[in-house]
Amino acid sequence: MKRSIIKIVFYSLCFHSIVGCNSDSNSKDSQLNIKAIDKRESYIRAINGSDEEIDSSIIERGKVMISYSDCYTCHKEDKKLIGPAFSDIDLRYPRKEVFIKILAQRIIHGGRGAWGNAEMSAHPKLKTEDAEAMVAYILSFSSIASK
Ligand code: HEC
Repeated sequence: MKRSIIKIVFYSLCFHSIVGCNSDSNSKDSQLNIKAIDKRESYIRAINGSDEEIDSSIIERGKVMISYSDCYTCHKEDKKLIGPAFSDIDLRYPRKEVFIKILAQRIIHGGRGAWGNAEMSAHPKLKTEDAEAMVAYILSFSSIASK
């Protein structure tokens, strides 16, 4: 008799946790989560491709050049400021020469529309090879951070 009461209590608890709690609040939460993931994916718009090897001295040079330039007035490493987080730029573009060249030109000439409506000022005095080193650093962000 005791056992069957325990069984009933046990099964009704299970039933409640499967059916009861799964209703409203949980599914709303998961819908919100899916929306947040969708939003994040359409913000990042990751481009497929694998990273190419890049000389670590170039990456180091890029890091130093960024700290001496005005980049950090609009960018943060891992949070959006006026411009996208460096970690998000790293998530979008594979570290390939073609993207390094394109992004270096965007830094030099300025840009808008790739991440939203804010505008990146032009950096006409920046040499191409220096801008490319900066991009090499940004696109190595996750591999450096996880070390
Ligand atoms: C005046 C603010 C500002 C400054 C200064 C600035 N940026 Fe940006 N940056 C932005 C904004 C805003 C965007 C997003 C532009 C867009 O949506 O196309 C951006 C985008 C970028 C991108 C991605 C471009 C793309 O097309 O995906 C890179 C790379 C970048 N910045 C690097 C730099 C570096 C390196 C420096 C320093 C030399 C720098 N930024 C200085 C505001 C700035």
